[in-house]
Amino acid sequence: MKIKAGIIGASGYTGYELIKILSRHKSVDLKFLNSKSRNGQAVKSVYGDFWDASLKFTNLSLDEVNRSNADVIFTALPSKESIEIVPKLKGRIVDLSADFRFSDAKVYEKVYGIKNYSKIKAVYGLPELFRSKIKNANAVANPGCYATACLLAALPIQKFSKHIIFDCKSGYSGAGAKPAYVNQPENYSDNVIPYNITRHRHKYEIGQFIKSKISFTPHVIPVFRGLMCTMHVLLKKKIDAKKIYKDFYKKEPFVKIMEDKLPELHDVQNNNNCCIGGFEIDENNRLVVVSAIDNLLKGASGQAVQNMNIMFGIDEREGLV
Ligand SMILES: NC(=O)c1ccc[n+]([C@@H]2O[C@H](COP(=O)([O-])OP(=O)(O)OC[C@H]3O[C@@H](n4cnc5c(N)ncnc54)[C@H](OP(=O)(O)O)[C@@H]3O)[C@@H](O)[C@H]2O)c1
Repeated sequence: MKIKAGIIGASGYTGYELIKILSRHKSVDLKFLNSKSRNGQAVKSVYGDFWDASLKFTNLSLDEVNRSNADVIFTALPSKESIEIVPKLKGRIVDLSADFRFSDAKVYEKVYGIKNYSKIKAVYGLPELFRSKIKNANAVANPGCYATACLLAALPIQKFSKHIIFDCKSGYSGAGAKPAYVNQPENYSDNVIPYNITRHRHKYEIGQFIKSKISFTPHVIPVFRGLMCTMHVLLKKKIDAKKIYKDFYKKEPFVKIMEDKLPELHDVQNNNNCCIGGFEIDENNRLVVVSAIDNLLKGASGQAVQNMNIMFGIDEREGLV
């Protein structure tokens, strides 16, 4: 029996990545691709590189969505939109927004500036940290793209660190398809754009899982997809960093420890891997580690499908390799 899946917010960047993965996934039957703005239009008319000219966006009502008996629904909506919709859905949920990523509702309200937030119970969907909980979850809060790259870099060494500084660069698709300052060609072309240099929202998401002091600064760079985190760690003592990372991730299908070269965006664009490398320690006992992901895949839709695979007990790599 195939997994019946649907997408809400299907016409955006992460929605389209979900369409590409799920329409080729051998265990999935894609039931609806909801988009308010593109209802009835062919996916190919919006994304010219899509291969199936017959597949169209839908706009089922909430009742119709629930009557479709979908086993899993992916919500690829802006943060604050999912809060309204997700609690009304039947079926297991993988939500790509930030709405259910915070275990403390008060922190979420403060960081995202909302009031009277009613949180549903969701598991934070980083498989490398919470695989066994994801397996039985009814709702998974898919992590943020920066948070994924930073957490995968920091988890193995956090207990040896006094202070971790994340210096991140993201392609402009990280801001989504909806026009914003950073995704306009006249702004990102031939440019690097720092923003929210001390108080970006992902700092607080990352801080839920890292015990030591952290600092976080993001930049937008003139590429469409790909995200890099250069992590500087002030160490408490000398460590064999490469060995620690190799041991920590030895069973992980999507974390690649690079021993012979530093990760670059070309290593991760269009795949679900997180490449981690560097592991150099300087004369100040500062460890530098580089992690790279595709923000739209391991940072969003690839990880969302990885989570679905875990939830339904199938090979975690299905549809992703
Ligand atoms: N882009 C990334 O790299 C990335 C990475 C990790 C997580 N995320 C998260 O994933 C979610 C989707 O991101 P995205 O990049 O796919 O965004 P996007 O390209 O802007 O797409 C969002 C989609 O949501 C729908 N939508 C419904 N209500 C909306 C509203 N009030 N305003 C705007 N759109 C609305 C729109 O489709 P219709 O109008 O057609 O229904 C739109 O296509 C966001 O929560 C984002 O933070 C994104």
